[in-house]
Amino acid sequence: MERINILDTTKHAGEKVKVCGWVHTRRDHGKIIFIDLRDRSGLLQVVFGDETFKMAQELRSEWVISIEGTINKRPEKMINPNLKTGTVEMVAEKLEILNKAETPPFSVDTDGYEIGEDNRLKYRYIDIRRERMKDNLVLRHKVIQFIRNFLSDNAFVEIETPILTKSTPEGARDYVVPSRLSHGKFYALPQSPQQYKQLLMVAGMEKYFQIARCFRDEDSRGDRQPEFTQLDVEISFPTQEEILSLMEKLYTELVKEIMPEKHITQTPFPRLTYEEVMKKYNSDKPDLRKNKEDKNELAFAFVVDFPAFEWKETEKRWDAVHHPFTRTQNKRNLKEKEFIDEMKKNPDKFLAHQYDFVCNGYEIGGGSIREHNPRILQAVFEVMGNAKEDIKEKFGHILEAFEYGVPPHGGIATGIDRFVMILKNEPSIREVIAFPKTGDGRDLMMNSPSTIDKQQLKELGIKFGK
Ligand code: AMO
Repeated sequence: MERINILDTTKHAGEKVKVCGWVHTRRDHGKIIFIDLRDRSGLLQVVFGDETFKMAQELRSEWVISIEGTINKRPEKMINPNLKTGTVEMVAEKLEILNKAETPPFSVDTDGYEIGEDNRLKYRYIDIRRERMKDNLVLRHKVIQFIRNFLSDNAFVEIETPILTKSTPEGARDYVVPSRLSHGKFYALPQSPQQYKQLLMVAGMEKYFQIARCFRDEDSRGDRQPEFTQLDVEISFPTQEEILSLMEKLYTELVKEIMPEKHITQTPFPRLTYEEVMKKYNSDKPDLRKNKEDKNELAFAFVVDFPAFEWKETEKRWDAVHHPFTRTQNKRNLKEKEFIDEMKKNPDKFLAHQYDFVCNGYEIGGGSIREHNPRILQAVFEVMGNAKEDIKEKFGHILEAFEYGVPPHGGIATGIDRFVMILKNEPSIREVIAFPKTGDGRDLMMNSPSTIDKQQLKELGIKFGK
C-alpha cells in the first residue's frame, strides 16, 4: 500500500490507508494506547486497542514508523479543534518500526524559544521538526517562489553568477579560498553579485535577477549572518522610480498573496530623503508603524538621496556610502571634467542616486543607479584613496567593460532572511535559516570551521607560522 499524507486522512473516512512518520506523543491509558503520529503535513491520532495494544507498548518519542489502519470519523463530542485532522482518527491494524530513536535532547512540541540556542543549532535536524521552524522554512520557500514567478512574468531572467570570484567591495571583509593551481592566490566569495550583474547589463541581458547567496566576514547579530540570501536585481535603461515601483508592486502583491492577514501602513510606500529621516527620526531606517504592538502591520518606505561619500576616520580616507559603483548626483549639470574636479575637491558636497528599502525599522534592501561613465567611475575610485595601479588591478575588468558599450543601469538587492523574519515576527534571522551560524561564525552541527589534513594544506601550498 502507498503512503498518504497525514493531512489527507480526513478525505479517507471509512477507508483503509497507510501513513508514515514520527511518534510525536504516546499516551498509555491502560487498555488503549494513543499515538499522535507526525509527518510534515500534520498530526494524526492513532488508536491501538485490543490485539494491537501490545504492538504500541514498545513505541517511544521520535521513533519512525509506518501504520496501516482504518480512518474513522470521530463522534461530534470527540472532535479535536486543535488538530487539522481532528475530525478523524486512525484505528491501527498493522505497525512497522522503520527506525528507533534515542531520546531527543529536547522536545519538539513547543515553540522552542525556551531551549538554549546552542543545543538547538547542534541538533538542528531535530529542532526543525517543531511546527514553528517547519512553518518558517515553508514560508521562506513561498516567498522565494512568489518572487521568482513575479519577476519571470515581468521579463526578468534569473542568472547564476560565480561563488569563486574576486573581491567586490560592499564594506565587509571577504571570505577567501586558496587556489590549488596558483599557490599564493585566492578567490574571494562574493559579498554580493554586484559586479557580475552590472557586467550582465553590458552583456545586454537588460533585466536580471537572482536569489543569490552572499558572504560577508563580519560579526553576526540578530539581523546579520556571515552568509545570507538576497533577491538581487539589475535593470538597463531604468529610472530610479521604475526600480522603486517594481519593488513596491512585488512586495505589495507578495504580502497580499502569501500573508493576507498583514496590512501595509501606507501605499504607495513613502519616499523620504535621507536628510528628512535623519532630522525627523535620527535614523536612516525609521520604524513607521502606527502601532508597534500590532503583529500584522508592515510599514514599508524608501529612503532616497543618501550622501555619496563619508569620511572614514580610522582609515583617514573617503568611502562610498553605498558602494563605489553608485552614480553621484550631478545636480548642477556640470560638464564631465568640472564634475570630476569638484567631486575630488569636495566629496562631501555630493548626493548619490542611492536608495534604501526599509520595513518596520529594518533595512530590507538597498540599491542605486550606477555610474556608467568609466572616467567618472575611475575618479570615484580615486576619491576613495585608491592608487592608479590598484584601480587597474582591482577594477580594471569593469572599467574596460564599460569601454565596450555600457547601457545606463541600476538595481537593488533585498534581504530575504530579514524580510521573512519580519513577516513571522521572529527575533532573529537565525529562526528563518535552516542551518545558520552562531554569533562567532560556527556551525555547531557540522562542527565547522574545522582543521583540514596536512595533505590538503600541502596541495594548497599553505604553511602556518608558529
Ligand atoms: P547591501 O549591502 O545594502 O546592498 O545589501 C542588500 C540587503 O541585503 C541584506 N543584508 C544582510 N542580511 C543578512 N545578513 C547580512 N550580513 C546582510 N548584509 C546585507 C540587507 C540589505 O539591505 N550589491 C548591493 C545591492 C545593489 O546595489 O544593487 C548590496 O549588496 O537587507
